[in-house]
Amino acid sequence: MKDIAPIEWKNFTLKILDQTLLPEKISYITCKNYKEVIKAIKDMKLRGAPLIGIVAAFAMIMEIKNKNFKNYDSLYKELKKISDELIKTRPTAVNLKWAINRILKNVEKNKERRISSIKELLISEANKIYKEDLENNKLIGKYGADLIRDKDRILTHCNAGALATAGYGTALGIIRAAVEQKKNITVYVDETRPYLQGARLTAFELVQIKIPHFLITDNMAGYFMRKGEIDIVIVGADRITANGDVANKIGTYTLAVLAHTNNIPFYVAAPSSTIDLNIKSGDDIPIEFRDEDEVKKIAGKNITTNKTKALYPAFDVTPSKYISAIITEKGIIRAPYDVNLENIFAKKEEMIIL
Ligand code: MRU
Repeated sequence: MKDIAPIEWKNFTLKILDQTLLPEKISYITCKNYKEVIKAIKDMKLRGAPLIGIVAAFAMIMEIKNKNFKNYDSLYKELKKISDELIKTRPTAVNLKWAINRILKNVEKNKERRISSIKELLISEANKIYKEDLENNKLIGKYGADLIRDKDRILTHCNAGALATAGYGTALGIIRAAVEQKKNITVYVDETRPYLQGARLTAFELVQIKIPHFLITDNMAGYFMRKGEIDIVIVGADRITANGDVANKIGTYTLAVLAHTNNIPFYVAAPSSTIDLNIKSGDDIPIEFRDEDEVKKIAGKNITTNKTKALYPAFDVTPSKYISAIITEKGIIRAPYDVNLENIFAKKEEMIIL
């Protein structure tokens, strides 16, 4: 079965699959300007680090497409204003900054051109960001599948699938590629409280692509690892720092420590746009805190008392010492991460410089 597309970009309008309604309902919202996109990102209608970056690039295009600009400076000023607003929506995933930066750099590089020609170049750059993400995921899948053996039982957390990217997925892309190689795989899907990316989104994708899986609640992972029922853990990432520390969905760190204790390989799959060499270690990654109501309610229903306060860090940081390898479209990277992560960028310009 074909993947359900998380976005559709047509005639400078962005249709976004409302992921808050999955798996019950497949329904798209239409965004015609960047303010609507910002709202959709904040409300988690779409999510996933690479997808947020792609959508931000399209939001910038939407805004400048039909506006008239007197000169380069006014165009740049407008784009910068939109960028600053977009960047604030979700602070942890660096792919957002990376995509915005790619668009801004493209404008700066083409400063001398006519405005209409700059606009055309930006449209093609945003489309490239979208297209490349899918190609990168296929490569991540190809490299990562070599790490998987027949009959492996793989634990994954959150959703790092087609719904979090331009398609195919990163962590889920590896699982798909292994299945395409005819390996018999069983996936253990962590439900991923509180937004339930695992239960609602990853399980949905696995049903669509017909990969056997079990849903488990987050607190069951240790049980299955200790029983020897998990062979590998694969997760996605929202930001990877220069020393190889990884920010990903809250609960990832717990899994990494459990995997380490139980001698289970712990892999991180992400495009190189997730690597932020400007930040030395995970301690400096900004962690998004979301509204306590998202913890206090399940499916809109209160699960605690009105008087109880809740905390909701949306991501945590896994120190690189727990990570067996990072799988990117450029290949498999292992420790020492501080050297090997930098080495995958052939040119300095490919790194995120903000
Ligand atoms: O809050 P979310 O759903 O945007 O968090 C998503 C994750 O943590 C994913 O694992 C990560 O973005 C990688 S998606 C390919």
